[in-house]
Amino acid sequence: MKRFILLVVAISLALFLVYNNRSSSDLVIYSGRSKALVDPIIERFEEQTGIKVEVKYGGTTQLAVALIEEGNRTPADIFWAQDAGALGALAKVDLLAPLSENILSKVPPRYSSDSGLWIATSGRARVMAYSTRRVESSDLPATLFDLTDSKWSNRIAWAPTNGSFQSFISAMITIHGYDTTKLWVEGIRNNGAKNYANNNAILQGIAAGEADLGLTNHYYLFRSKAADPNFPVSNAFFEAGDVGNMVNVAGIAITKPSEKRSAAEEFVRFLLSDETQNWFASEVYEYSVTEVGELPGESESEPVIELSPDIDLESLANLEETLKLLREVGLL
Ligand SMILES: [Fe+2]
Repeated sequence: MKRFILLVVAISLALFLVYNNRSSSDLVIYSGRSKALVDPIIERFEEQTGIKVEVKYGGTTQLAVALIEEGNRTPADIFWAQDAGALGALAKVDLLAPLSENILSKVPPRYSSDSGLWIATSGRARVMAYSTRRVESSDLPATLFDLTDSKWSNRIAWAPTNGSFQSFISAMITIHGYDTTKLWVEGIRNNGAKNYANNNAILQGIAAGEADLGLTNHYYLFRSKAADPNFPVSNAFFEAGDVGNMVNVAGIAITKPSEKRSAAEEFVRFLLSDETQNWFASEVYEYSVTEVGELPGESESEPVIELSPDIDLESLANLEETLKLLREVGLL
């Protein structure tokens, strides 16, 4: 009898622990995206589904390294990354589970991995920002290569130490080769381009009259315009397919060791829902990957995906060549 009571106590304790463990959090997310962006989304997801979520925040690369170190023992069910390169690194070491076809079909093929192991959640485009006071839109260059022309001498702003700029240079190396890219970078440098610390500084520099055209990400303009509707800068794209229009993505994947695959898929579906996709556009001015809604000022242009060069986004993680090139031309 004593043994029976002990057994009942042991089983109850075990059940309690298992239940308690589950109820305290049903889903563990490693997020390279910021807390300010992710927290409100998690809150709505928990409200709508009753699934509890625990988020570990960190830099995208740092979390990818942690995940690889933890391997099959990782507590993470989901990895939400700022860029596709980190997701590619996890795919390479076989730590990701394939996503269902009904999830993958929600986005154009370019916005998911060929192996179906990750999917984009939102996009950001490279653009040229220009002064609406000193540049006519009809005078804008058709291609990135036109910017080495003397017409643009001492008028260009760029941010060579910025991560998005460096991803764009990686894409240029992939598409045009190392030597052509190096010649272009030297050409822009020799054309008197002004170096800025980051994308926001580029826009402020154009508004202040220090430069007329800047190579930047699209959303900085919308943030500046939200603060000042008369901000004297606009965005434009180069001709379709130009590497200067490259669209990069944030993306998400479910880990292979996760035992909560259906809850994890529910979260991914939630991010790709019209509601959340519109939220990305209205809150942080990123592009929808499911092509719902539109950004302010975007209505007259083609969908941004049509303007971007077709490139393997996972390949942009390989920064070594890019850093070497920028060092060789004295920009780093
Ligand atoms: Fe940025």
